[in-house]
Amino acid sequence: MEDLDTLKSEMMTSVEQAGSLDALETIRVAELGKKGRITTLMKGLGALEPEQRKAVGQNLNLIKNAVSEAIDARKSAMADTELDARLMAEQVDVTLPVRPESTGSIHPISQTMEEVIAILGEMGFAVAEGPDIEDDWHNFTALNIPPDHPARQEHDTFYLPGSGEDDRLVLRTHTSPVQIRTMENTEPPIRIIVPGRTYRCDYDATHSPMFHQVEGLVVDKATHMGHLKGCLIEFCSAFFGVDNLPARFRPSYFPFTEPSAEMDIGCTREGGGLAIGHGDDWLEILGCGMVNPKVLENCGIDSTEYQGFAFGMGIERMAMLKYGIPDLRTFYESDLRWLRHYGFSSLDVPSMVGGLNR
Ligand code: PHE
Repeated sequence: MEDLDTLKSEMMTSVEQAGSLDALETIRVAELGKKGRITTLMKGLGALEPEQRKAVGQNLNLIKNAVSEAIDARKSAMADTELDARLMAEQVDVTLPVRPESTGSIHPISQTMEEVIAILGEMGFAVAEGPDIEDDWHNFTALNIPPDHPARQEHDTFYLPGSGEDDRLVLRTHTSPVQIRTMENTEPPIRIIVPGRTYRCDYDATHSPMFHQVEGLVVDKATHMGHLKGCLIEFCSAFFGVDNLPARFRPSYFPFTEPSAEMDIGCTREGGGLAIGHGDDWLEILGCGMVNPKVLENCGIDSTEYQGFAFGMGIERMAMLKYGIPDLRTFYESDLRWLRHYGFSSLDVPSMVGGLNR
């Protein structure tokens, strides 16, 4: 009996002192396992007197249960300690600043596009979109650029393979085809802007085969050149952040507008840099004009009742001028150092509510 008490306290001590889950398992096998000490003693019970057998048997069972419970209790205590240690080690300090390398930035093209949309949206224009792959009618013919027109050559068009002369498809060379799509499907009054990708086979410091434009179109009963000028001067003042922006409209030519103009804004190039808004130099900024009556008629709009004006600007050029980016090709090189330098925080994006909710 005394031996059994010693055995019990010996076992309990070793459970108490076990330093790991593995050590506990070793103890469990050695004491309670099939070949363990308790089991061996149980097997020896048969050799005892019946009276003694009963007493020793009961005692062995008590010891077995006690040791087994002690092992379980120790195991769960160890698991708790381990969890606590892990929770302490993995603690997150929510007050630490975000690691700068994981912050993305907004590309100057996206930023400029949003700014243009926000300003024109505030002025009452709604955003319209069209497909990048166009047919000849929408990209050229309906815009008064018939098959033999010299303007077709100037557009350096990407034609899609496999389509014939008459029904050939093109990557749109400007956003103007969306004017046609809108006028074909909407009753005037129309007031839209069309942001989007455009394509021309051209590549140098100021040209890329894929680039972005924003088009504008207004069609109404009493629209005139004064509206065009007022609208574009207000837009450019807001975009470049300059009050009383000097502006001039030079006669120009586009087949789809008559008369057509090129808008220039005042600048100075003194001291090597470019400063917009003052000085006596001029900077070409966009093309515009009164919608050619032929184009209105091509879209089923009565040109004796309606007039309109249109304008188109290159987003890359606007971004280069506003943010002093010298080479257009860098926009598409995906150089992270460039993006970190010229990119914008998401907090800089202006509200587009006026443009999209109409
Ligand atoms: N579509 C012309 C271009 O790509 C721009 C423009 C649009 C000019 C609307 C006048 C009116 O060059």
